[in-house]
Amino acid sequence: MSKRFYISTPIYYVNGAPHIGHAYTSIATDVMARFKRLDGYDVFFLTGTDEHGQKVERAAAEAGLAPLAFADRVSADFRDMADKMGVSYDDYIRTTEERHKRSCAELWRRIAANGHIYLGHYEGWYAVRDEAFYDEGELTTAPDGTKRAPTGAPVAWVREPSYFFRLSAFQEPLLKLYEEQPDFILPAGGRNEVMSFVRGGLHDLSISRTSFTWGIPVPDAPGHVMYVWLDALNNYVTACGFPDPDAPRWKFWPADVHVVGKDIIRFHAVYWPAFLMAAGLPLPRRVSSHGWWTVEGEKMSKSLGNVIEPRTLVATYGLDQVRYFLLREKPFGGDGTISHPALVSRINVELANDLGNLAQRSLTLIARNCAGALPGRGEATEQDAALDAAAGALPALLRERLDRQAFHEGLEEVWKVIRAANAYIDHQAPWALRKTDLARMGTVLRVLADTLRAIATVLQPFMPESMARMLDQLGVPGEARDLAALALPLPDGTALPPPVGVFPRYVENEA
Ligand code: MSP
Repeated sequence: MSKRFYISTPIYYVNGAPHIGHAYTSIATDVMARFKRLDGYDVFFLTGTDEHGQKVERAAAEAGLAPLAFADRVSADFRDMADKMGVSYDDYIRTTEERHKRSCAELWRRIAANGHIYLGHYEGWYAVRDEAFYDEGELTTAPDGTKRAPTGAPVAWVREPSYFFRLSAFQEPLLKLYEEQPDFILPAGGRNEVMSFVRGGLHDLSISRTSFTWGIPVPDAPGHVMYVWLDALNNYVTACGFPDPDAPRWKFWPADVHVVGKDIIRFHAVYWPAFLMAAGLPLPRRVSSHGWWTVEGEKMSKSLGNVIEPRTLVATYGLDQVRYFLLREKPFGGDGTISHPALVSRINVELANDLGNLAQRSLTLIARNCAGALPGRGEATEQDAALDAAAGALPALLRERLDRQAFHEGLEEVWKVIRAANAYIDHQAPWALRKTDLARMGTVLRVLADTLRAIATVLQPFMPESMARMLDQLGVPGEARDLAALALPLPDGTALPPPVGVFPRYVENEA
């Protein structure tokens, strides 16, 4: 296979339990990965956990566990979350693995050999919660008089010997990268922010710490562990087998898309390409960032007690329903809020009514009036041709929308066709044709079945289980469910199993 696609989620900190924000990043990435597989690509989809650094060390101490034992537990929980959310990752990396330690040591050596690392002293503000350094000018003072990072995280003054990365030397190369590859950072707002940050001047970056030990040792520098972001970012090449040029997965590097939340775009779009340039490695093609979820308009936080556990949400509303909601409710790059009424409305109006009823009506008519077999088509009317054309355009439309991570636009394109198909069935009234023109009824039902097949095919990445069931009912064999197969019509007379509803309505629990 010649077409390759490598996509990653960020690796999640194991300091706390997974929540809906993490699930969102992973599901969006999963939709991309599944879509590319459907489109004939050889896909490598990477996710995993970020396990070193002070933040994790502290959380482990609070839990009364050794850092690794603690990381084992939380990492397994994140993995369970990914599995339960239908995240089809190809590899699950943990930064505490041997392969990753080897890879980090080699990355360090290459950057050092190229003259981009020097020993100095770090003195400045550090926020453990963000695992990030801040300049005095970026800080604000909280009502209680303590200094805060722009993210609200408390900061502390740190002074220790440290290795530095010559980030300042990469200002021009980075700006050139953003200019030459305008879609290196998506969306445009994120790109503008990053560019003005880089134009403002880059300081050299402290990349080792000596005041704690929970990290990857710096080669030949006793007492120093690597800055957790250098360690973490490097996971993306470790998983491709770095530094072994013969590793089977090395062919996937550079990555096509790193999916990240907007809070960590700077690390991915500034530090990461600079590290790679310094090490002489190829750069990823894109960093695509998404906005944040709030809950009924409020920031999710432990103190407000409104943190949404993704697995609980799935138990209440259903997996595909939650996946659909997350990708439909807000534009990828923007912020959005999760609420019960919004979920119920998407589920009942768009899934149960628009799509579920369309399928159920069409398939029931075929079951009753065509002996449960796909009818053949007669001569096409203008209306038939229009719906065929709309359905036929879906793969290309989705390809274009998803190539820029515009998931909600992609879904809107599908719903335009669903709405057109609903208008078509109402207008053609195949139930009435049964009495007047059986051949025409067959044609209408076949146009609907073919339209549903196209819809269900392109929706598989979003709602894998439900769409598999819909394709079963449409008689589409397993090997005919990718985008290319849509060009080949199913044989007339294909036997269809009895129809069963795919999207139940959400009914409020009276209690
Ligand atoms: N460990 C780093 C990433 C290292 S990647 C080399 C990290 N981890 S994280 O667990 O804090 O966050 C991971 C992702 O979850 C981020 O992309 C972040 O934006 C996302 N989310 C966390 N809370 C979120 C919301 N409330 N809404 C949407 N996504 C959010 O950062």
